[in-house]
Amino acid sequence: MLSTLRLFLVLLLLLQPLLICGANRTQLLQLSNCNATQLNELKDVATLNELRLSNCSLYNLKNALFVQYGHLLIMELQHCKLNSLEDYALNGLARLQSLSLAHNNLSNVRSWSDQPLAALSSLDLSFNALQQLVSRSFEQYPQLQQLNLSHNLIEHLQPDCFHNLVHLKHLQLHNNRLQLIEASFFLGLHRLSSLALQHNQITQVEPAAFESNTHLRTLRLEHNQLTDLQFLLERSLGRLVHLSLSSNGLQELRPEGFVEYFELQHLDLSHNRLKELTNHTLLGLESLELLNVSHNIVTHIDAESLQPLSNLQQVDFSHNLLHTLPDKLFHSNSQLKDINLDNNQLGELHASLLKQLIHLDSLNVARNRLKDANWLQQLAPALNRLNLSVDLSSNRLQSLNLSSLLFFRHVNLADNYWNCSWLARNMMRTPPASLNFARNWPMLSAWSDMTVFNVRGVDCFDGQQNRSIVLLDVGVVRQQTTPISTCDCEQTTDELGPLTPPLSWPRIRTDRFDSRSVIIWMLVAIAIAFAGLRWAQRFMDRKAGGKKLREMKNMSIQKVEVETQRLRNDRERS
Ligand SMILES: *[C@@H]1O[C@H](CO)[C@@H](O)[C@H](O)[C@H]1NC(C)=O
Ligand SMILES: *[C@@H]1O[C@H](CO)[C@@H](O)[C@H](O)[C@H]1NC(C)=O
Ligand SMILES: *[C@@H]1O[C@H](CO)[C@@H](O)[C@H](O)[C@H]1NC(C)=O
Ligand SMILES: *[C@@H]1O[C@H](CO)[C@@H](O)[C@H](O)[C@H]1NC(C)=O
Ligand SMILES: *[C@@H]1O[C@H](CO)[C@@H](O)[C@H](O)[C@H]1NC(C)=O
Ligand SMILES: *[C@@H]1O[C@H](CO)[C@@H](O)[C@H](O)[C@H]1NC(C)=O
Ligand SMILES: *[C@@H]1O[C@H](CO)[C@@H](O)[C@H](O)[C@H]1NC(C)=O
Ligand SMILES: *[C@@H]1O[C@H](CO)[C@@H](O)[C@H](O)[C@H]1NC(C)=O
Ligand SMILES: *[C@@H]1O[C@H](CO)[C@@H](O)[C@H](O)[C@H]1NC(C)=O
Ligand SMILES: *[C@@H]1O[C@H](CO)[C@@H](O)[C@H](O)[C@H]1NC(C)=O
Ligand SMILES: *[C@@H]1O[C@H](CO)[C@@H](O)[C@H](O)[C@H]1NC(C)=O
Repeated sequence: MLSTLRLFLVLLLLLQPLLICGANRTQLLQLSNCNATQLNELKDVATLNELRLSNCSLYNLKNALFVQYGHLLIMELQHCKLNSLEDYALNGLARLQSLSLAHNNLSNVRSWSDQPLAALSSLDLSFNALQQLVSRSFEQYPQLQQLNLSHNLIEHLQPDCFHNLVHLKHLQLHNNRLQLIEASFFLGLHRLSSLALQHNQITQVEPAAFESNTHLRTLRLEHNQLTDLQFLLERSLGRLVHLSLSSNGLQELRPEGFVEYFELQHLDLSHNRLKELTNHTLLGLESLELLNVSHNIVTHIDAESLQPLSNLQQVDFSHNLLHTLPDKLFHSNSQLKDINLDNNQLGELHASLLKQLIHLDSLNVARNRLKDANWLQQLAPALNRLNLSVDLSSNRLQSLNLSSLLFFRHVNLADNYWNCSWLARNMMRTPPASLNFARNWPMLSAWSDMTVFNVRGVDCFDGQQNRSIVLLDVGVVRQQTTPISTCDCEQTTDELGPLTPPLSWPRIRTDRFDSRSVIIWMLVAIAIAFAGLRWAQRFMDRKAGGKKLREMKNMSIQKVEVETQRLRNDRERS
């Protein structure tokens, strides 16, 4: 009784705004946690435009349940524990445009009506338990444009299952169990514009599979088990714009395999087992804007392999095994803006590699083996350096010509093999804020062994490859620890703001090298670092026989340094 009353109130509340503005004829009914009895007993449904039920317990929809809902445009029955619909359950929904039965337990699909649902344009059956689609499943939905069948258990589509769907534009079949795409599956879907087949177990696509789908613009096949792209040679997909083949088992690409894909703009080949790109691999891709070959095992790229791509804007070769790049690789790609070569094994880059690029704004060569960056001085004169970001972190640079980098938007130089004396000299010359030398150092707190802080610091190597660390932002540690150490709880009320005591150790940031004292402190820090290093090494050698990991060594060096600084702080305060 009580819950009927509650339902009534909910109804009233929901209908209220709609009743008030009578001119607006949209009438929405939204219910959750209801049951079939309550649904049957709903009154005044003839004028409803939208019905949204969620989390109800319906189990089954009886024939002719909705014959009264003649004005319904949108119906959503999600999370309603539906196991089945009787054959004519959707009878009478002549104006229905959008139907969602997502998140139920349906194991088969039929038209569920003896007359066409002539207005239905969107049907969502995702997150159910469908295993296969029988022929003519959607016969009574002739105007369907969007069909979502994702997140089911579909292994097979019977021939003709999409019969009559001549207007279908978007078909989603991702996250199912398809293994083979047969030539019959998508036959007759002449208007299909996007097809989502990602996250299946597809090992093979029959060559004629997309023969009817000449309007396809987006084809998603990532996260499958394809080893071969023979179906692309059929040329029926000549209007493709987006093609994703990421996370498959591709080992090689056929020469001239993309020759007639003149409109393709995005090609994603990441996470495969590709070994090389040749002069003939990408022929024909003249509209391509984004090429993603990251996470492969590419060791070789032919000098002219990117030559056909005159509109290329973004290229991603990260996470491969490249040792070198041909010096003319990008010479035909004058539109390139973004180059990612992160995580390869590049030992050097040719000085003329980037010479033609006047639109470059992002260059990532982090995590390689570069020993010098002289090639950065050969950029195109017309390039706007103020908008260029370069990531050179985690390489093997010992020194570089800083004056050539002064006008870049940002240059990341962290984690290289800096020569300590070079570094010290250039720190005094006040590098601009756009240059970053520092990286995070995890550091055990000297006050409590349990906490680890990240402190910004630069590391450098002296002649014998002995590493030193210059900590730049020790103030952070003090700030973070003081609330624990100062438990003079009586004082705090007045001094809530400056809970952190005044720092005598300067908080030097890499972007604020502007006073002489900063430089002096920097030198002091370097000196301390050297002293600490010696001390720590002797200590470590004695203790661990020199067998400790280098990381551990760094850790203790930092700790010693912080201790020293704390002593200094205390002394200066007193
Ligand atoms: C009716 O109201 C809804 C929002 O309450 C609005 O989105 C819709 O455009 C309105 N329709 C008309 C015809 O005014
Ligand atoms: C449906 O819910 C109402 C109110 O909560 C309850 O009285 C009724 O017994 C329920 N019907 C069924 C079939 O569970
Ligand atoms: C859905 O129903 C279950 C009980 O049937 C309830 O525990 C849960 O909170 C409900 N969720 C929502 C979003 O109403
Ligand atoms: C889903 O439907 C199947 C039969 O198709 C049934 O065996 C199963 O119990 C149902 N699961 C739930 C949670 O209702
Ligand atoms: C199913 O796909 C449609 C687009 O076709 C989308 O609007 C809808 O949110 C999807 N359903 C779910 C449950 O994600
Ligand atoms: C690719 O083209 C360049 C220049 O025409 C040529 O030197 C090279 O041998 C070609 N590589 C292959 C594998 O055909
Ligand atoms: C290339 O693909 C990888 C992995 O799928 C992704 O993380 C990366 O963002 C993509 N690169 C671009 C430029 O889209
Ligand atoms: C500057 O670079 C950013 C991205 O790095 C880009 O979005 C923007 O369009 C560039 N601006 C100009 C004027 O090139
Ligand atoms: C450093 O770069 C600047 C500007 O590119 C150049 O003029 C200068 O000669 C370079 N210095 C050295 C030592 O290469
Ligand atoms: C570091 O630089 C100094 C002077 O710039 C040079 O004398 C020294 O040999 C360099 N050390 C190494 C290891 O290259
Ligand atoms: C590192 O420094 C110590 C102490 O200054 C020195 O004995 C040693 O030769 C240096 N080189 C190496 C590679 O450890």
